[in-house]
Amino acid sequence: MSKLTLSPAWKALAAHRKRIAATSLAELFAADPSRAERFSIEAGELMLDYSKHWVDAEAMRLLAGLAAQAQLPAWIARMFAGDPINSTEARAVLHVALRSEDTTFPEGRDVMPAVRGARERMRRFVDEVQRGVVKGADGRTITDIVNIGIGGSDLGPRMLVRAMRKFRRDGPRLHFVSNMDPADLEAVLAGLTPGTTFFILASKTFTTAETLANAARARAWLASALGKTTGLSRHFAAVTANTAGAVALGVPPERVLPMWDWIGGRYSVWSAVGLPVALTAGMNAFEELLEGARAMDAHFRNEPLERNMPVVLALLEIWYVNFFGAQTRAVIPYSEDLRDLPAYLQQLEMESNGKRVDRDGNEVDYATAPVVWGASGTPSQHSFHQLLHQGTHFIPVDFIVIGRNGGSSTEQGALAANALAQGAALAFGNPAPGAPHKALPGNRPSSTLLLERLSPRALGALVALHEHKVFAEGVIWNLNSFDQWGVEHGKNLARMLLPRLLEGGDTAGLDASTRGLFARLRKRD
Ligand code: F6P
Repeated sequence: MSKLTLSPAWKALAAHRKRIAATSLAELFAADPSRAERFSIEAGELMLDYSKHWVDAEAMRLLAGLAAQAQLPAWIARMFAGDPINSTEARAVLHVALRSEDTTFPEGRDVMPAVRGARERMRRFVDEVQRGVVKGADGRTITDIVNIGIGGSDLGPRMLVRAMRKFRRDGPRLHFVSNMDPADLEAVLAGLTPGTTFFILASKTFTTAETLANAARARAWLASALGKTTGLSRHFAAVTANTAGAVALGVPPERVLPMWDWIGGRYSVWSAVGLPVALTAGMNAFEELLEGARAMDAHFRNEPLERNMPVVLALLEIWYVNFFGAQTRAVIPYSEDLRDLPAYLQQLEMESNGKRVDRDGNEVDYATAPVVWGASGTPSQHSFHQLLHQGTHFIPVDFIVIGRNGGSSTEQGALAANALAQGAALAFGNPAPGAPHKALPGNRPSSTLLLERLSPRALGALVALHEHKVFAEGVIWNLNSFDQWGVEHGKNLARMLLPRLLEGGDTAGLDASTRGLFARLRKRD
């Protein structure tokens, strides 16, 4: 048994879970008229209502005890101090520096000159693009920018460019390509003019197979259309910690914007990886995004555990995953602009905390990150909500609702009414006597996260909220949330299999299934 599951706090929570499960959510509401206010937290432009969760004051006290036992406040301090808390890679975790306003940060190891320098270069580049100074090989003004990247070098900017599309300024259109499948790039390029298309190659390592393959295809597309190879470099910029790699691929050194080993890929949207966001909405909007994240950083550092929004979300996740056996959590934004949020959170949460050994290398005896999934409401209501309401799985839900979104109040009202209806139906059910097929059992918990507006500030806070939630969970589960070794083996295997598949190489040593599939695939030719 691990220290965690043997701890008094864990045992007290297990006992409390038995008690509280005998009380319905409706009874919890009836017992406390101030429940909705008591179980809600405000932070800047965000408001979290977690009253429809299966918790009472005692549950929250015990859960906060779990966080205290894990010394969460000390871990938060360690992250902000730049300690190498990414232990398997001996790296600091300093995405918070990217939105810091401190003159020097962190103490004793100042990364701010590098951060400010990169931001300045970003600003200059955005300005040049917007003024039409950046031109292609034929001297034509750029009309379209394609971001080539994958994982953290794609999901964050992709999600935020869409979320901020109402703030789009005049200037080039943004496109995203991540898949190794050539169909992804081909579909984007089909509508574009080579002479006016620019590519951002975003890759922290500049060794990622998908990104390198798409970069080479993009270059070949330009070369064949423009009929020359000189001047093609004018169509490229890169964001990477591997400048040499980018330059080797023909990106001019002055167009290589930096990344650093103290920024994890999935935490990198605040760096020049966020360039597409700044190119769409302008550098000032990008700075507002950083401001929103900075406000959430201050909240995370300063608020007591029980009033701390990221910590409370982390505690609720742990409550359901470890004490109710929940295996998944649904994220349902009632906003088309936020449609890509679930995909972004999948990487952030599952790559960070999808781990089975703790910081000391011991196999854990408790569940860790759940499967995160979701889609935008209301289309989701006509797809999978049936299972949420009447299925056999226990699935906590996060509803994300925008208060004022610039649309007419009737339209916003309709979205909000639907979101609130879903939360209420999940929590309180519908008895339907004599018609079991119509009955909704209720007692299905959900959070409602209300954004005042879909502003850059609110979005910055929303993303930072989830980053810190993931960190708080990792601390309590005793995980390193900042590595992703599980992904490496698959990459290596693919590298080993590809030449054998293409060149008919030796299949000895491969497992029987892979050998059989090889044989089928080769028959194609
Ligand atoms: O495969 C996992 C991963 O390393 C992610 O963590 C990362 O965001 C993605 O690949 C892309 O990596 P890079 O930015 O180095 O191309």
